[in-house]
Amino acid sequence: MLYVGKWDRTGLDYLALKNQWHVVARVNEVVAERPKAVKLLGEELVLWRDGSGQIHAWKDYCGHRGARLSLGCVRKGEIECPYHGWRFDVEGQCTWVPAHPGQATPSSDRLVFRHYAAERYGLIWASLENPKRPLPIFPEWENITYRKVFAGPYHYKGNALRSVENFLDASHFPFVHANLNGDPDAPEPLKDYQVFKDESGLHTSEISVYQPYGDHRGIPVNARYNYSVFNPTTAYFVKKTGETERFCTFLNATPVDEAECVIWLIVAINFGADLPEEKILYRQDMVFEQDRLVVESQRPARLPLDMQQEMHVRSDRLGIEYRRWIKELGDELHVAEHELTSVGADAPLN
Ligand code: FES
Ligand code: CO
Repeated sequence: MLYVGKWDRTGLDYLALKNQWHVVARVNEVVAERPKAVKLLGEELVLWRDGSGQIHAWKDYCGHRGARLSLGCVRKGEIECPYHGWRFDVEGQCTWVPAHPGQATPSSDRLVFRHYAAERYGLIWASLENPKRPLPIFPEWENITYRKVFAGPYHYKGNALRSVENFLDASHFPFVHANLNGDPDAPEPLKDYQVFKDESGLHTSEISVYQPYGDHRGIPVNARYNYSVFNPTTAYFVKKTGETERFCTFLNATPVDEAECVIWLIVAINFGADLPEEKILYRQDMVFEQDRLVVESQRPARLPLDMQQEMHVRSDRLGIEYRRWIKELGDELHVAEHELTSVGADAPLN
């Protein structure tokens, strides 16, 4: 019921994502009285703030007659359905049926459906199910020596996991980002690098590349990248140029549906304070537009988790580990759900 997505919900990629945090909006997009409609993993959600400003993510649905709660409003800290004015408190309990004020309110069981919501880094995060991993870390967020700039959001008619893998792929630089991140006439071989896994996700050793227009300064740089993946849809790199210059990117790709995603970027930079934000955004917009064309062209749209399905070379190591990790996360949930079903099926016999 209510699922409007195209994504096969039994797929391991989907299972790996449904109990994880995803960015769904900037914090200032949801104001006190106005609920906001968003879509995550094919589910229509409503974001709203209660009386204390706390954020909530529910299905965009009222079980009385199926109207969208996002068309309603928030009154006295409760969300009010636009159709018959029923109100719901933060626990999802119906508190008010205006046509029958004297009567007990109906049980909320099939009336509203609550998901998980949180705020961090100026972003609103949601998870469809109890999140298995914590909100990701953004190492430079608290460090005031780094200037923070929000870029995007970039809308792709492509898959979120494909777009994250693209972000983690250094061997596409000279071609997709010709004359920015590499030279197409003299593409550099990529030296071998390592991928490590710990409880915070995946991390690489340093990857060095020459870039003709490496950042907002518009100058050539020898860049040394260290990539991390903190959650399936949260990736990060620190890019070192020179002794102390650091350009860090915290990327979140919202899986709106199987072939639709939104990319939110926050960059943290400790140099070029005199350069205007437009210079940073100009280059970011260009790079992510170039990536968009390629990611939207990839077939199948979904990231293949069967290693036999595409061809891999050594420079793809991070992508390979990323696919393995997604598969593992999906498998865990698949097994857990299977056990749950078996217990349920056995129950009547006990
Ligand atoms: Fe929501 Fe009737 S449909 S109150
Ligand atoms: Co790219």
